[in-house]
Parts: sequence; structure tokens; C-alpha cells
Amino acid sequence: MNSKIKKILLKKNKSKIVSLTAYSKNVAKILDKYCDIVLVGDSVANVLYGYKSTKKISLNSIIQHALSVRKGIKNSLLVVDMPNNTYNNNKKALKNAKLVLKQTGCDAIKLESYKDNYKIIKYLVSKKIPVMGHIGYTPQFKKKFRLEGNTENASNSLLKEAKQIEKAGAFSIVLECLTPKAAKKITINLKIPTIGIGSSLHCDGQILVTDDMLGLSGFYPKFVKRYANLNRIIEKATKKYTREVKLKKFPTFKNFLNARKPRK
Ligand code: KIV
Repeated sequence: MNSKIKKILLKKNKSKIVSLTAYSKNVAKILDKYCDIVLVGDSVANVLYGYKSTKKISLNSIIQHALSVRKGIKNSLLVVDMPNNTYNNNKKALKNAKLVLKQTGCDAIKLESYKDNYKIIKYLVSKKIPVMGHIGYTPQFKKKFRLEGNTENASNSLLKEAKQIEKAGAFSIVLECLTPKAAKKITINLKIPTIGIGSSLHCDGQILVTDDMLGLSGFYPKFVKRYANLNRIIEKATKKYTREVKLKKFPTFKNFLNARKPRK
């Protein structure tokens, strides 16, 4: 087993797993200093490309983003989302997962749970593909963004789904938008770590979409905490640049390519 995956597994019940998404090298390089897991999420479809659905991102596009992210990652575990329609049967899933791993050099792939596709996870793991699961709100398969596991029945069926994914051999599982009670029940009953998004403190780790937590995407549901307001910072810088260009304050002599460096 990949030593980075081993490290993630060992964190269960010991220390929280820190995870964020990245779509490019520059951001990945910063996240790599702090995150246990960096995910090239299919959320890139909404966040960068402005699509309404994550289903719009192609395998080739996610591979291009993962290649960029790979260049910024040394320490974190790099996971790449399998886009919609790329893992509907064993043969297709294996071909595409192998392509993603080989072309990007990532450590693992993530796929969303739907009906009995834990069987696809089982098949991929049997072929030595490291897989992360994803249950709850799974945007590739569910239209409505809502809290999952509200009733006893619903939380039991989420637990059953999570256990099937664990048994299939996934090394961890994302819990998206689960009630705290359901997230706790699943986290306690699984040996593999749970990574929560909008699913309470009970999970073994947390993940957010980086552009959301940096205040760049404009998508701020209640579970997102904005740790910065990059929109404001970028706007301020752009405004200053615009003013200086118009007032002929930029470029100055310092910015000329043939300007001599001042002596120290
Ligand atoms: O695509 C993504 O960014 C994700 C996270 C929200 C877990 O799947």
C-alpha cells in the first residue's frame, strides 16, 4: 500500500485529516504544506468553468488540472475525482482509472456512490487501484442539494452504503451534507477514515472547496467558513493597477527590462 495512504489510515481516532481541493499548481503548492489530502474535484466544473453541474467536466479536462496540481504536490496524498459517466461499468472504470493514475501520477481516485456501484470499487481495488468513496449528497447523481440522513431509516441506509464501500476496499470515504447524527454513526462504525463536508465535527477529517473557503467562488452555504476574502483582495489590486495604468504611473523605470539593478 502507498505510504501516504497508510499515513491517512493511521490518523483514524488520532488526529484530524485536513483536506482541500485544488485545480492548479500555484494553489496546490501552498496547500501541500498543510493538507493531508489534496483533491482535484469535479467541482472544477462549477468553480472554474461556471457550469451549473459537475457532470460537465470531461476526463481529459480533469486530467489536465491534475497534471497542473501534481506539479505543486510533494507531501499530500493526491486524489483525483472520476468525472460523471467515466465509471459506469467495471471495464470502463478500470480503463479510465488507469488512465488517470498513469497520466497524472496521482495516488488515488475518488468516485461517487450510486446504487450498487460499490461493486465497481471492489473491482478497481482488486486491480490495485486505490479508491476513495463518496456518499450523501453526490452531485453527479442527485439533483437536489439537501441534508442527508435526516431519519433513522435514511441514516441506517447511509451506514449500510458506507459499510459496503469499506468492505469493497476503499481507503476512506467522503461524507457530504450528512446530519451530525448520521456522520457520527458512520464514523464510529467504520475502520476507514471519514472526510466530512457539511457533515459536522464527528468526521475523521474535513474537506472544503478551496475557492469557497477563500471567498473566491461566491458559493457560501452555511457549512462553508470563509477564511479569507480573495474577491476583495483581487478587486482592490485590479483597481489600483487600472488607476496606475491610466495615470501613467505604471510601468515605472524599475519595471523596464533594461533597468539596471540598484547597487546595494
Ligand atoms: O468535487 C469536489 O470538490 C468534491 C468535494 C466537495 C468533496 O467532491
